[in-house]
This record gives sequence, C-alpha cells and structure tokens, in this order.
Amino acid sequence: MRLELSGISKTFGAHRALREVSLAVPEFQSLAIIGPSGGGKTTLLRIIAGLETPEAGLLCIDGQPMSFSQEFLLAHRRSIGTVFQAYNLFPHLTARENVVLPLVKVHGVPASAAHEIVDTLFERFQLSGHADQRPAELSGGQQQRVAIVRAIAIKPRFLIFDEPTSALDPEMTAEVLDFIADLRGEGRDLIIVTHNMGFARQVSDHCLFIAEGRVLESGCSAELFSRPRHPLLVKFLAKVLRY
Ligand SMILES: Nc1ncnc2c1ncn2[C@@H]1O[C@H](COP(=O)(O)OP(=O)(O)OP(=O)(O)O)[C@@H](O)[C@H]1O
Ligand SMILES: [Mg+2]
Repeated sequence: MRLELSGISKTFGAHRALREVSLAVPEFQSLAIIGPSGGGKTTLLRIIAGLETPEAGLLCIDGQPMSFSQEFLLAHRRSIGTVFQAYNLFPHLTARENVVLPLVKVHGVPASAAHEIVDTLFERFQLSGHADQRPAELSGGQQQRVAIVRAIAIKPRFLIFDEPTSALDPEMTAEVLDFIADLRGEGRDLIIVTHNMGFARQVSDHCLFIAEGRVLESGCSAELFSRPRHPLLVKFLAKVLRY
C-alpha cells in the first residue's frame, strides 16, 4: 500500500500532537512507527484509522484522498482492522461472540456465515479450544490473538496495530508477535506502532521515527536501523537498545 501525508496537524488543547507532518511513504507491505512516548504515534495512527480528524492537512491512502466527512469516516473505519493495547475485548462476551458480534451487527454478515468464519480462523490460529471462554478466562496472549482474529475476520483493506504487546509478558509478547509476523507472511498490509525494535526491524519494510509531533526520519527499515541519521533517532535507539 501507499501513504501520503501533507501538512497534517493535530492539536489537543494547547498541545500540538502533530506539527504539519508531510511525507510520502513509497509502496510498502508493512510499516513500523517508532519513537519516544508522547511523540504523536498513536495520534497519527488514529488519524489514518479515521478515529481522529486533523485540523489541517491532506492524507492519501493508496492514492485516494481521505475525506473527513462523517459518512466517509464511518465506511473507512469499517474497512480497516484495528488492534490496540490489550484488554479491548468485550468482557461479558465469549471469544467466539467477540468476533461474531461485530461481523453480524456492523458488517451485516449472516450469523451462520459469521460462525463459519470464526471456526476457520480459530482453527487456524489455535484458538478452537477457547471459543467459549470469556476474556477473563484467557491468557493475555490468547486475548490479544482473539482481538487480532476479530480484526482480520472482517477482511480489512489493511491492519493497524498500536503497541499490541505492551501489556504482555515476554512469552506472550513473542506469541503475539509471531502471529503478526505470520499475517505479514500471508501478504496482508500492516501498520504497526511498536516499542519492540527487533520486531520492527524484522517485520517492517519501511519505518517512521516520530518525535515531538514530527516525522524526523522515514526510510527503508534495514537502512534506518543500521544507519540512523537524525540525532534524536540515534539517541532513541541507543537508549532503547541498551537493555
Ligand atoms: N485525547 C487527547 N487529549 C489530550 N491530549 C492528548 C490526547 N491524545 C494525545 N494527547 C497528547 O498528544 C501527545 C501525543 O500523544 P500520542 O498518544 O500520539 O503519543 P504516542 O507517541 O503514541 O506516545 P506513547 O508511546 O506513550 O503511546 C501527548 O503529549 C499526549 O498527551
Ligand atoms: Mg501511543
């Protein structure tokens, strides 16, 4: 897919979360967004997902300009699979119901077809034995896999992940990251915000470094991680890779 931003700004109160961000990301399958806390990563992701509207600027996805009318945004949101930090499943629904419900209620899939989709995906992602458990009865890694299955069940144009493993312990993190790497292997388009530099480097073909509301570096991941240029990126990588 392709992404072009031109003069995108977003302010919360007096705080400028994104400052006239302009860039063109060439054709990619997997885009990683990295950077220090508070830099604007989630804000950019939410704008791309149609969950937040910038005050100014233009955004094109695959050459198509994004409109910020309510009608466009609603259809846009439905066409994208989003996975945020852990704990975003409905707690009172079983794993199966968590996936079936949006398919039926939001996407108008007939119930029988929705159950078939769940059976196939749960089987493929080793969740069959957990279909009737509620989130509280699942491990963090299993919950996050259900959330990812829910995102891919709708056959999204592309998938967006915002720190999908930040609430998980290292073993669960590896489980979920393997799962996301498999999705990439299947040829799905991904945009992922992650604090895991090893993962970003391994799984993405392009990477953006965002700090202080600006994209300070954009490049092919292999290049950006082996030869970072912007002093803040050099400092950031040295800091996060220290331990
Ligand atoms: N809804 C909001 N209301 C007020 N301020 C906000 C809101 N969302 C984000 N901000 C502010 O905008 C800035 C950028 O936030 P954002 O969540 O995009 O950062 P981030 O790069 O995702 O950080 P982290 O790595 O900690 O998740 C922060 O200073 C944050 O406090
Ligand atoms: Mg964030």
